[in-house]
Order: sequence, then structure tokens, then C-alpha cells
Amino acid sequence: MSLKFYLAPLRGVTDVIFRSAFERYFGKIDYLLTPFITTVKGKEVALRHLKDIVGSENDRKRVIPQIIGNNPDDLLLLAKHIHLSGYTTVNWNLGCPHPLVTKKKRGSGLLPLPDLVMSILDHVVPALPGKLSVKVRLGLNDDAELERLMPLLNDYPLDEVIIHPRTGKQAYSGFVNLDRFAAAAALCRHPIVYNGDIVSPDGFRSLQHRFPEVERWMIGRGVVHQLTLLDSLRTGTERKGDPVVLRRFHDELFKENGRVLSGSSHLLGKMKEFWGYFASNFNSGKSLLKKIQRCATIDQYQHRVDEAFGEIS
Ligand SMILES: Cc1cc2nc3c(=O)[nH]c(=O)nc-3n(C[C@H](O)[C@H](O)[C@H](O)COP(=O)(O)O)c2cc1C
Repeated sequence: MSLKFYLAPLRGVTDVIFRSAFERYFGKIDYLLTPFITTVKGKEVALRHLKDIVGSENDRKRVIPQIIGNNPDDLLLLAKHIHLSGYTTVNWNLGCPHPLVTKKKRGSGLLPLPDLVMSILDHVVPALPGKLSVKVRLGLNDDAELERLMPLLNDYPLDEVIIHPRTGKQAYSGFVNLDRFAAAAALCRHPIVYNGDIVSPDGFRSLQHRFPEVERWMIGRGVVHQLTLLDSLRTGTERKGDPVVLRRFHDELFKENGRVLSGSSHLLGKMKEFWGYFASNFNSGKSLLKKIQRCATIDQYQHRVDEAFGEIS
């Protein structure tokens, strides 16, 4: 069996700067989904909408751009631009749980509406220049919605179906529902990717034991918390991160984000988001995170970071 690992899209975190730096310091991932790109009205897609995917750092064979929307023409327009940028596959987001998104019948807001999903696919699939995959949850409010949708998805030539076994209502709270994942996976004729709460080799082993037929595994928060997690999963043993490597990785994120973000408050905001994940690698995790979140200037921030790395090196 050949296992494949996917980086999950985390909007605000796993952008092109993160993806490239991650692979330089922690090794290649089989596939990387980008955070979602929203459809736009009109006949053209401005370059700024595609800025995360147009650069040559994105390996066109392994990076899969994700799109979100529910208007077939707008979805097609965006997918065509993505195809023109060199990608063969796009992923349609049917999982985003944010109420502002779901209220507009986007993301997981589409899961209770199989007729609408089918009418969109009927329009988009025949005209799509490349391949399409979908990323879904169990439902919006009801965790059996996906089981009702899956037989319909079987009729379309989807490249794969990525399942995060929570409902949209749950967002990221509570537990993944593995029984519902099993039920939905059993109904699916497309290749399945499992996604959700993989954080350790032991947890991964027990998922593999329960779902021996699944070869594709997507990981998001776990790998940002613990940057060596993929290495640990591939080898089956816990790999400790090297603080020197983490420091270099941090410094690259800082430098590259500083180059593209305007103003120090944007840069600080971005780096604070990363520390929400990195801080758990430090003994003083929670208090360190608070100190970093309180930094109001770049000087204060750099001082705190030096202090933190001084603690572990
Ligand atoms: C901050 C954040 C941003 C996310 N952005 C996206 C996104 O753009 N597209 C998407 O399909 N899922 C998004 N997700 C969901 C993740 O891709 C993933 O499905 C979820 O975190 C469960 O996997 P994990 O437990 O391995 O993190 C996001 C999750 C978080 C926490």
C-alpha cells in the first residue's frame, strides 16, 4: 500500500510562503491543498485573487488550488484561470463552517442541498478544463447529510473526496465522528482522503487500523503545531523537532511575510497566528503565547522570540 500525505488548507496559515518554507525545512509533502480562493463576479479574475498560486514556488504537480462558491459560471471562470496557471486539478470547498459563508449556501452550507450541488456539478463538470475533487464535512447541522449526498457524487467523475468527519455546526469543536466517516466512505466510489485530528503516530496507527483501505491522509493543525509530525508518521516514531531548525523556519516566515505584508501590524498579526501553533513546542507554552500576543511593536516581538528560543537551545 502506498500512503500519501496531504497538507490541509488552513486559511491565514498555509499560504505559499508557509508551504515553500515548510518543504525546505521539513521535507516534501505528497500533495498540498491551498486555502480557498473565492469566486468573483464578472468576466475576469484579477491577478491579486490568484497571488497564492501563480508563483513558480508552487509545484504544479503537487499543489491543488481550492475554490469556494456556488455560482457555476463564476466557479468555471476561476477554475479556468487556475488551469491556465498550469494546474490540472482544482478542489471545490464544501466544508467551510463559518456562518457568514454557510448562510450564502457556500462551503458546508451546500451539504443539506443535494439538488443545488448536482445542478452546479452538472454545469461545471462538462466544461471544466481539468480534474475536480471535493472537500466535504459530514453535513451542515446533521451528520447524515453526507450519506445522502454521496450516492449523487458517485455519478460525477471526481478525482477524490476529502472527508473531514465533523459537521459545519461543530466547526472545530468536539470529536471527529469515525462511525459516520465509515458510513460515508463505504458509500463512496471515488478515492477517499481522511482528514481530521491526526496529531501523533499512535493516533494515526489506530486510524489506519480502523480504516485499512484508506491510503490518503490529510493533516492540518497537527503539522503546524508539530512541524516534524509527517516525519514521525512516516517512520512510526515520534521525531523531536530541532530548535535550531524551528528558529530558521520562523525567521524565514518572518522575513518573507515582512516582504509582502504592508506595515508592521500586519506582520505582527500574521506571526502571532503562527505562534498559536508553535508555542506548544516550548515549556512555557501558554505564558509565552500570551507574551507574544501582547507585543505591540516588532522590537518587542523580536525580543520575545529571542527569549523563547534562548529557553530551548
Ligand atoms: C485556521 C483554519 C483555516 C482553515 N481554512 C480552510 C480552507 O481554506 N479550506 C478548507 O477546506 N479547510 C480549511 N480549514 C479546515 C482544515 O483544512 C481541516 O479540514 C481541519 O482543520 C481538520 O483537519 P486537522 O485536524 O488536521 O487540522 C481550516 C481550518 C483552520 C483551523
